[in-house]
Amino acid sequence: MKLPIYLDHQATTPVDSEVLKEMLPYFTEKFGNASSRHHEFGWTADSAVENARSMIAALIGAQPKEIVFTSGATESNNLAIIGGARSYRDRGRHIICTSVEHASVLSAVESLKMEGFDVTILPVDRDGLITLETLKNAIRPDTILVSVIHANNEVGSINQIQELAAYTKSKNILFHTDASQSVGKIPFSVIDLGVDLASLSSHKIYGPKGVGALYVRSKRPKIYLDPILHGGGHEQGLRAGTLNVPGIVGFGKALEIACSHLAIESARITSLRERLYQGLSRSISGVKLNGCSTQRIPGNLNIYIPGALGNALMMANPEIAFSSSSACSEADGKPSHVLREMGLTDEQAASCIRFGVGRTTTTEEIDYVIEKISKTALELRQLIFQSEVNEQEEIRP
Ligand SMILES: Cc1ncc(COP(=O)(O)O)c(C=O)c1O
Repeated sequence: MKLPIYLDHQATTPVDSEVLKEMLPYFTEKFGNASSRHHEFGWTADSAVENARSMIAALIGAQPKEIVFTSGATESNNLAIIGGARSYRDRGRHIICTSVEHASVLSAVESLKMEGFDVTILPVDRDGLITLETLKNAIRPDTILVSVIHANNEVGSINQIQELAAYTKSKNILFHTDASQSVGKIPFSVIDLGVDLASLSSHKIYGPKGVGALYVRSKRPKIYLDPILHGGGHEQGLRAGTLNVPGIVGFGKALEIACSHLAIESARITSLRERLYQGLSRSISGVKLNGCSTQRIPGNLNIYIPGALGNALMMANPEIAFSSSSACSEADGKPSHVLREMGLTDEQAASCIRFGVGRTTTTEEIDYVIEKISKTALELRQLIFQSEVNEQEEIRP
């Protein structure tokens, strides 16, 4: 077994070697600009982009023209929410999202307030999910857009998008979902889910970083967005900028691989995740699972370990890559907003850790992690116990 062990696959994933192989020619001999209409270099690049577009569309139940390539899910979320709100502003000014969205959704809706939009942030239950009832109660006559995360990046819980989207459709309201943690990991079809807009990211599924897509429904009804990047009219005028041809080719290949192995891969990863959870629960008392135990993506394990700070566990085990929260909120050092919204106190949230099991994870690695994390957690508890004893002795007359 090689160290370090990577167990942070919700933050990002390594590029699959097959994906890299497919991408490489598009950096060198096939380097053309996909918008160059008058020579072979351009045609080759354009045909690779269109091939990836058709493949991605087919894999998520969309039409090729419904796929807009972006720089990743952050941009897709911004385009869907800001572009959607601006485009439909004549219908109303009310936007809804949940309190456990990724920062790119929460910040996008926040920015819309400055443009005169009114925003409702929906509370979630203890599993981090929203109910149809909560959504129904928040809808107003002037609601134009609802955004609900599909699978949560921190706790892995999967929202019932189908019933939520069906309801908003009956009210003529746009429905967007951030599907960057679900596409390629669980069966995903925009037709089955009935969404109008869906954000995808390549680097969560063993594709390159800096590329993603936004699905934009083209009929029943056709969705119109105001572009947020202006320039050369690429991507049907929705996203200006020279296309990232190697990235798009890699993204297409990555999704193809993920979908073709989905059933086997998700069963294998789920069983490793369960092994990790059971192993840690057996050796450390009081371990609690965060997020939904049934509706959850295969690789995510987020747990609360009373008496063991997440940061201390990470510092004591530098050879294991895991996370004390989402990679994004780790940067600002604040306790996870997702865990707090699910009802955990700041203190409890600080004692939570997230493991992301992935394609290359082995049983041997899982067993190593169980042993090391359990040992550290018990040592940390012993330290707390010892310092409490010392305190008691100090105050004793
Ligand atoms: C749920 C979710 N949405 C959006 C993003 C942002 O994706 P990207 O890195 O492609 O911009 C991430 C990645 O951290 C995520 O987990």
